[in-house]
Amino acid sequence: MALNTSVAGVALGGYVCNASGPRDATLEELEVIANSGSSAIVMKSCTREPREGNEEPRYSRLAFGAIQSMGLPNLGFKAYVGFASQLAGRGKPVVASVAGLSLEDFVLMVGAFQDSAVDLIEVNLSCPNLAGKPPVAYDFSRTAEVLDAVCGLGSKPVGLKLPPYYDFVHHDAACGLIASHRVGFVTCINSIGNALAINPETEAPVIRPKGGFGGLCGDYIKPVALANVRAFFERLAGKVSIFGVGGVKSGSDAFEFLLAGADAVQVATAFENEGPACFGRIASELELILQRKGYSSVDGVKGRLKRV
Ligand code: DHB
Repeated sequence: MALNTSVAGVALGGYVCNASGPRDATLEELEVIANSGSSAIVMKSCTREPREGNEEPRYSRLAFGAIQSMGLPNLGFKAYVGFASQLAGRGKPVVASVAGLSLEDFVLMVGAFQDSAVDLIEVNLSCPNLAGKPPVAYDFSRTAEVLDAVCGLGSKPVGLKLPPYYDFVHHDAACGLIASHRVGFVTCINSIGNALAINPETEAPVIRPKGGFGGLCGDYIKPVALANVRAFFERLAGKVSIFGVGGVKSGSDAFEFLLAGADAVQVATAFENEGPACFGRIASELELILQRKGYSSVDGVKGRLKRV
């Protein structure tokens, strides 16, 4: 059974990998991913300078997922450029994720990763957890400026980590920009920004930063993630690859993303909860589903969502 796939021309030996976010900020954590069933090594979104992140508590499990406002704790991009050399040659692609706090930051960091050992560069235009800095991708003129500045900096594929959109007008606008720039892939979706979970016992939010507002993750967001994967697939299929992310914790979830049109899925909340065994487990479950349905590869199913 072939779960192998490719994203922006880069081969992945399996359909399931980690997402930028949990357990991927240090070399030790990235080594765990390298030694797991994850089909790629996706690194934590990095900034120009190292960051401690937001104050605790900044992550809380919920009944059907989690809410988080980590605030980009990371070691600074130079550390990840170095880690890429150490992680290359392990039989799986290494993916950088860059989160600039300014246009200049994006240019500096994408340029540095173009000269590094990474295979793919994910440009994170969707972090919802920085007070006063709304996700770039909700502002299409700022998005155009970033794309103008970063898409021609080298030959490694550049992709965009996008926030959820809720109207086709916005999918159209994003896809217009993507089609007019050299974008190799999109990653749909980041967490749903600025959700609020309240503990009725303490009468307080469950996380502290931003008065309790944070990114919603896990099962809650899967239908929104599937909708965004589908909307981008309908507009970009065959031209731009798609990583699906948002609530993947079983083979059945991964199969739904495959039907919607994802070239591969990334796993965040289930990895946080379960640890690195989740990748192999989800991939095996997906394989069984494909076998049961008589499909011999992911390619035979990709995007083939039926009509009701
Ligand atoms: C963080 C959250 C995000 O959703 C993201 O894309 C990048 C960083 C964070 O809070 O660390």
